[in-house]
Amino acid sequence: MWDKLKKIAAELRKTDMLTLFDDPDRPGDFSIRFDGMLFDYSKTYLTDAARKALLSLAEGRGVASRRDDMFSGARINQTEDRAVLHTALRNLSGPPVIEEGQDVMPAVLKTLARMEQFADDLRAGRYAGAGGAITDVVNIGIGGSHLGPEMGTLALAPYHNGPRCHFVSNVDGADISDKLKGLDPATTLVIVASKSFTTIETMTNAETARRWMAEGGGDPAAQFAAVSTALDKTSDFGIPHSRVFGFEDWVGGRYSMWGPIGLPLMIAIGPRNFRDFLSGAEAMDTHFRKAPLAQNMPVLLALVGLWHNQVCGHATRAVLPYDQRLARLPAYFQQLEMESNGKRVTMDGTALEGQSGPVVWGEPGTNGQHAFYQLIHQGTQVVPCEFMVAAKGHEPNLAHHHRLLVANCLAQSEALMRGRSLDMARELMAAKGFEGDELERQARHRVFPGNRPSTTLIYDRLSPRRLGQIIALYEHRVFVEGTILGINSFDQWGVELGKVLAVELEPVLTGKADGASKDGSTRQLVDFIRICSK
Ligand code: F6P
Repeated sequence: MWDKLKKIAAELRKTDMLTLFDDPDRPGDFSIRFDGMLFDYSKTYLTDAARKALLSLAEGRGVASRRDDMFSGARINQTEDRAVLHTALRNLSGPPVIEEGQDVMPAVLKTLARMEQFADDLRAGRYAGAGGAITDVVNIGIGGSHLGPEMGTLALAPYHNGPRCHFVSNVDGADISDKLKGLDPATTLVIVASKSFTTIETMTNAETARRWMAEGGGDPAAQFAAVSTALDKTSDFGIPHSRVFGFEDWVGGRYSMWGPIGLPLMIAIGPRNFRDFLSGAEAMDTHFRKAPLAQNMPVLLALVGLWHNQVCGHATRAVLPYDQRLARLPAYFQQLEMESNGKRVTMDGTALEGQSGPVVWGEPGTNGQHAFYQLIHQGTQVVPCEFMVAAKGHEPNLAHHHRLLVANCLAQSEALMRGRSLDMARELMAAKGFEGDELERQARHRVFPGNRPSTTLIYDRLSPRRLGQIIALYEHRVFVEGTILGINSFDQWGVELGKVLAVELEPVLTGKADGASKDGSTRQLVDFIRICSK
């Protein structure tokens, strides 16, 4: 099937993408609307034949049945022998979810209610620090225990009505040092967020924060909370059960912001808005479960992704939100997609037939336009772009800013597709008074090849509900892509080796162990660092 698709793609690429729009129905046929959102994938080379082939691939690879297995609590994360049930965390109105013969929903809802009570108490000043009401919350976590709440808290800034939230992740002391500067240790709550409660970065930062609080007049025994699956370890750290919010191992780190890992977001925007965020995701879950594959937004988003990466061979994709408050979304999707589908073997351990998931990267527009869009427009490699933008902003008094933002977003996808021919470039230069060889030379620099694919996701406004929908949309996209590729999207063994080697290297840096077993390059780097740090 991949070969058939590659042949279709090779033929299509000989044509001008704009000619696909000779069919006046194309925009409607190659887009999906769902609950306040429009996903337009018409500015790609996908045709009906290509889409049909991709859909039959999805059917053949059992997307629908594996999806149903996931929602029903089957242990589809086979390399860790776990169910994959992050969707249960937002199953606010849905049916029981059975894992190992037990309905997980009562415990999920109980934890949600405890989080809400805690957030309400904190926001109302009923839960306070040594110096009075909590003014600042510092979340310490990394990867899946950091990116989601950090991204969401920035995204939903217009809904903030609680204490300020700060996020520390890097083991680089610069991170915690800069974030704690100016905070009052007596009115700060520290949340230690770690699924395993062993991650070296998080535990190192948590110890530093505890010292900072104790030395600054705060009360670590009263001003620390924890979010983890490892309740024995949170107790060992000295955090009482009343301030520990647990979750189960069937919630993967990068899928965990819907539960207790989302606590700082809930504190920032309040429990009611947090429920709206969950209900947006729940609506997307229902759509994903019920809509036929051909009208299913996550499925189509996944098929477009596979088309660009596995079929057309474009190795990266750019996520380009035209929304400054989604500045951390590309980083969030980077973990979601690359940690999930960056795998070289299929579920049964055999080598992947083609590419694993793509490199995902991006920046908000319009900033990126003045940085890396040059390559996207004129570089030799094609970068499929995934634009997203809200129809309305949150600043009614700055509507003209928003109009410009939207105009730029739409202009980029149009320019990528349309391009500028050599003849047009020549005309342009002639109008500027160039002639002869110089006109020819200058014109060539002003050619845009065009025919560069992009998709656009438009939503009414970035509300908590919309954000929940968007994140769930991408989660399910990753699932569908992984399923079609035969990948287990829910483990991450590839991060282990570096962690083991870092633990080995630390004593080499301090001179407590020798680096004799290390390669020449690593030994040279260690020696240089030791000389510099004398
Ligand atoms: O190193 C990768 C990883 O395991 C991620 O998958 C995870 O989100 C992150 O580290 C943090 O892990 P934890 O929540 O256990 O501290």
